[in-house]
Amino acid sequence: MAVDVILGLQWGDEGKGKIVDYLADKYDMVCRFQGGPNAGHTLVIDGKKHVLHTIPSGIFRPNIVNVIGNGVVIDPITLVRELDGLKNAGVDLSNLFIAKKAHLILPTHRYIDAASEASKGKEKIGSTLKGIGPTYMDKTGRNGLRFGDIHSDEFKNRYHQLKEKHLGLVKLYPEVDFDLEVEEKKWFESIDRLRKLNCVNGEYFVNEAINNNKRILAEGAQGSMLDIDFGTYPYVTSSNTVTSGVCNGLGIAPSKIGEVIGITKAYCTRVGGGPFPTELFNEDGEILRRIGQEFGATTGRPRRCGWIDIPQLLYTIMINGVTQIALTKLDVLNEFESIKVATKYNIDGTVSEQLPYDLCDTNVDPHYDSYAGWNQEIDDSNQMDSLPTAAKDYISELESLLKVKISMVSTGPEREKLIIN
Ligand code: GDP
Ligand code: IMO
Ligand code: MG
Repeated sequence: MAVDVILGLQWGDEGKGKIVDYLADKYDMVCRFQGGPNAGHTLVIDGKKHVLHTIPSGIFRPNIVNVIGNGVVIDPITLVRELDGLKNAGVDLSNLFIAKKAHLILPTHRYIDAASEASKGKEKIGSTLKGIGPTYMDKTGRNGLRFGDIHSDEFKNRYHQLKEKHLGLVKLYPEVDFDLEVEEKKWFESIDRLRKLNCVNGEYFVNEAINNNKRILAEGAQGSMLDIDFGTYPYVTSSNTVTSGVCNGLGIAPSKIGEVIGITKAYCTRVGGGPFPTELFNEDGEILRRIGQEFGATTGRPRRCGWIDIPQLLYTIMINGVTQIALTKLDVLNEFESIKVATKYNIDGTVSEQLPYDLCDTNVDPHYDSYAGWNQEIDDSNQMDSLPTAAKDYISELESLLKVKISMVSTGPEREKLIIN
């Protein structure tokens, strides 16, 4: 049995949570493979909104195993808060499993994240300040603490050794407010709670499920343009958000990857710093933000909004080996008389369909084609045929530009607002 993948093709917040929650019903297991509490995945079920940060978006579906894979970084404080929220919402958590090799975010990782951002002046990454970068740095620097270590007698000693190292490092940066004593107390209390969770050798756990013909869905966090290797470096996150990250983040072979479902909004957003060729600074951008409710699910920051960008999507479709696309937030375009699509880039007088080496220091002038809007509400019938003609034309145009089938179209935040094409 192959592992299907769902991931973001833009700069995150494409609607991964909603699509994973919808599809989870058809799977036996949902696994997060990278990122951490920088993610905010929103699910709207029975009119109630839930935001998940570390826990896979299959958790609301009964009898489905949910795995936090080794590629994820875990903040015990956030995870416990998330578990409590779900428990209060009546969710069964007995099917949640955590890979021992997942790394832990220490309070001092968040401290370094804040101090490092403060040192950057105007060139800030716009990090969520959840300690993601410093934790992955300790992972690759071979200093990190892992989830499986919380049962070791040496755990506290190792924590204090690493903390001391961090306190040396933090001195190199400008001073920032951080109440380490309070955060440390909460952290150890949370660790005590996490000791009661199901802790597994993730790679054996997932491969056994594959061998037992279980249907598995891997849920990405962030988006491909935030990938540490292929994103708009240095304005990226610190993990591999693309399909190859599934293999490292769960311990499965590339030959086990099945369908790769890439998610894109019907337009584009980005939160935090960094280049965004199709960003709108006019009223259209304001309309997208207002109707799309484009405010960060983790930080509440307003998201930057712009038109859909074909060269950018062709790039991430290529890197990920996308086999089908889920197009989300089509309803957000309901009010537009006309909709623009960036089909090419003009780079210093040369027309290109490829992303330049460095979007940060290249003057990219997108070429736009305009399409008629539908200027009406989309009804609830969940049928492709009942979409306004202009909306169907927009979808077919995107399919022909992207050369990949759009197999799902989302028309609202609610679980049931999805058209299968
Ligand atoms: P994720 O990080 O990719 O899971 O996406 P987020 O949850 O951060 O942001 C997506 C936002 O759009 C959330 O508020 C969702 O409830 C909402 N959403 C998802 N799909 C749709 C849709 O088709 N239409 C509208 N209007 N909202 C949607
Ligand atoms: P989901 O899974 C959108 C952005 C931050 C910042 C950069 C680095 O909800 O799509 P980090 O905290 O990783 O050091 O931040 O990446 N970022 C996201 N943007 N959605 C996310 O996750 C993001 N996770 C990180 O805004 O620009
Ligand atoms: Mg999000």
